Amino acid sequence: TDLAHIRNFSIVAHIDHGKSTLADRLIQSTGTVQDRDMKEQMLDAMDIERERGITIKANTVRIDYKANNGETYVLNLIDTPGHVDFAYEVSRSMRAVEGSLLVVDSTQGVEAQTLANVYQAIDAGHELIPVLNKIDLPASECDRVAEQIEDVIGIDASDAIRVSAKTGVGIAETLEAIVARLPAPTGDANAPLKAMLVDSWYDSYLGVVVLVRIMDGVLKRGDRIRMMQNGSVHGVERIGVFRPQMEKVESLGPGEIGFITASIKQVRDTKVGDTITHDKAPCAKALPGFKPSVPVVFCGLFPVDSSEFEDLRDAIEKLALNDASFSYEMETSAALGFGFRCGFLGLLHLEVIRDRVEREYNIELITTAPSVIYNVFMKDGTMEPLHNPADMPDLTYVDHIEEPRIKATILVPDEYLGDVLKLCQDRRGIQLDLTYVGGRAMVVYDLPLNEVVFDFYDRLKSVTKGYASFDYQMEGYREDHLVKMSILVNDEPVDALSMMVHRDRADMRGRAMVEKLKELIPRHMFKIPIQAAIGGKVIARETLSAMRKDVTAKCYGGDATRKKKLLEKQKAGKKKMRQFGKVDIPQEAFISALKMD
Ligand code: GTP
Repeated sequence: TDLAHIRNFSIVAHIDHGKSTLADRLIQSTGTVQDRDMKEQMLDAMDIERERGITIKANTVRIDYKANNGETYVLNLIDTPGHVDFAYEVSRSMRAVEGSLLVVDSTQGVEAQTLANVYQAIDAGHELIPVLNKIDLPASECDRVAEQIEDVIGIDASDAIRVSAKTGVGIAETLEAIVARLPAPTGDANAPLKAMLVDSWYDSYLGVVVLVRIMDGVLKRGDRIRMMQNGSVHGVERIGVFRPQMEKVESLGPGEIGFITASIKQVRDTKVGDTITHDKAPCAKALPGFKPSVPVVFCGLFPVDSSEFEDLRDAIEKLALNDASFSYEMETSAALGFGFRCGFLGLLHLEVIRDRVEREYNIELITTAPSVIYNVFMKDGTMEPLHNPADMPDLTYVDHIEEPRIKATILVPDEYLGDVLKLCQDRRGIQLDLTYVGGRAMVVYDLPLNEVVFDFYDRLKSVTKGYASFDYQMEGYREDHLVKMSILVNDEPVDALSMMVHRDRADMRGRAMVEKLKELIPRHMFKIPIQAAIGGKVIARETLSAMRKDVTAKCYGGDATRKKKLLEKQKAGKKKMRQFGKVDIPQEAFISALKMD
């Protein structure tokens, strides 16, 4: 295809504003997929994505579109993940295309992720087409939202397209606008090959599949290609495009987007953002801005049933094959036995992996407290990154500790602003900015990441009844007065519950933790002290009193069925417990105890 007849674009939107529905409609209305093959959310391939309604991996589709001017264009849509955890993948995908549809739900308006994503699009030099979606709904307020887009984002929204991705209104105009308003890609077919590695994943039939955008040169089947990051060389086996099913092509030229397979063993051997060139005639310079995505949140995953450790290993290895941003190493815990310490891009990423292990591999898990990476500076001048509070070195050797901070942007209706400020303040936040945009407050906070990883987002949702939107970026490290708090149950330390906290908040957190654990741990035949301690100093204590000998004693008389039920219930409860010394701690205690408030 000649460059003038190609348009490459992505869709940026806040979650639920209708990105996937719009993509489906564009695919369907151009006949790319026959109606009978159309299932909803064509682009969200994985079940879990469909269930949760979130898009995790970037996906792409090539659409042939006959425009009103009679000419046929190739439209390449790259779908981008909508969640903050995958911000790096978003920025990569953006650099592979020239323009974006900026989709805003006309019943809602601009949200935090609209902003985060639109800034990435602007950074990538995109032409933007504002699209006001959901105009079929009575609550739609196109004028207000268009004005808000102009105020907040500072782009002209007077020619925003009014769309209902549900009914199909405005879809024809959208396709015309893509051709008329977005620039064609540029590139030189005769120059050495320069292609961007946009994404990669593991396919059980094809092995590693790599999504590429050709900048210059031509890529053909049989070519020997080189990954510029690590110099590895591979022979190209298959080459094709997504319609959205895979379809073979002979070559890909400048401006085109497609996939290759090339005897690559693991997704790990491909780095998103890398430059692919020909081994024999390489391009002089790699594409700018390569930066690997690194895990920022760590936690331990242990099987509830320790005999399932090998199954867990298998599951984790398989998942890691397909997800280069997920890291793991074996971990042993005195209390939990064998498991894995895993690193994730963020909390959502953690949840997705945990759910997949539990559901696809049927392994029940104990998830330990998520932790961020602390930089521990030793008195001898060295620095140790700390991924697991259980590994905290002896304090006498520690000089100081730094923790990662984020810059969080929250958009919220005025009436909930007070609660949001209080929440951020409670989490040791420092307010950086407070402005009003289109009738809503936009607050920017500097927050410690460790105060955000447990349940900040849940709390934010609940105090604002779901009306707040939230986005963040990493801001680097800062020293603070951090200590390791240990939890002792029946005088035994439970390392899976130990955590790093700020000294000023340790007493409060310790108290909350032991109170919570007292509720969560069932009574035993003996009395159980539950303590929180810093070093050797106990800062909070509760005692769980002993249970009467016979659990069924309170079932007066001889009601046999009731007695049986109670015993069964007890048995079921047992299954999900782990023994710590002489004490059974239920699995949910590990997560619940860590949630604050
Ligand atoms: P993520 O993939 O989670 O980022 O969400 P999304 O932006 O892709 O949103 P999605 O397409 O899943 O749409 C969210 C919800 O809005 C779904 O329930 C859609 O059916 C609904 N929806 C999308 N477009 C329209 C529309 O034009 N009108 C109405 N009434 N509902 C719509």
